[in-house]
Amino acid sequence: MKTLLTAEQLHDGVDRLGKEINKFYGDQPLTIVGVLTGSIVLLADLIRRLTMPLRVGLVQASSYRGTAIDPGQLTMNFDLLPDVKGRNVLLVDDIFDTGKTLVGLVDELQKHQPASVRCAVLLRKQGRQAVMKEPEYVGFEIPNAFVVGYGLDYQDAYRNLPHVAALEEHEIGKTVH
Ligand code: IMP
Ligand code: MG
Repeated sequence: MKTLLTAEQLHDGVDRLGKEINKFYGDQPLTIVGVLTGSIVLLADLIRRLTMPLRVGLVQASSYRGTAIDPGQLTMNFDLLPDVKGRNVLLVDDIFDTGKTLVGLVDELQKHQPASVRCAVLLRKQGRQAVMKEPEYVGFEIPNAFVVGYGLDYQDAYRNLPHVAALEEHEIGKTVH
């Protein structure tokens, strides 16, 4: 695989995201909602840059992929979501690809009556979007490749890489052990 973003670039990108988010919310209380499992590394790094009164919640979303790199049916689990009624919510995910995951999550979150919902993603894949919505905060724009590391997986592997790498053609479709 080929390194796309080094640990140092990621560090700087998360700094930038943190500054933008701090600037927008100021001293207003915020609930960060991380999307399991891909957002965990970003979540841990990002919340330490935020200065407003902060709560952290989690939701789970997955589109079955298996050895494929194209998304399937979206399933969501909101059991770990704290009460967000009347609160500002920032949904944090690893990557904005087709956008269907974030749109599905935002629609579901609205049922819990938050004061506002905005979205932050580490990566946005260029030319893949299939929805009208865009995330308010984007760490990096990347070309259309399947990427792993810094929380992102292929068949649940590689989440622990400190950098982001793009899989090469011959690495896709094989079972990872
Ligand atoms: P979307 O619904 O198509 O925007 O896909 C978003 C979800 O698919 C993300 O939360 C990721 O879990 C996963 N995903 C999309 N592209 C990639 C990738 O290149 N590498 C790893 N996971 C990805
Ligand atoms: Mg994900």
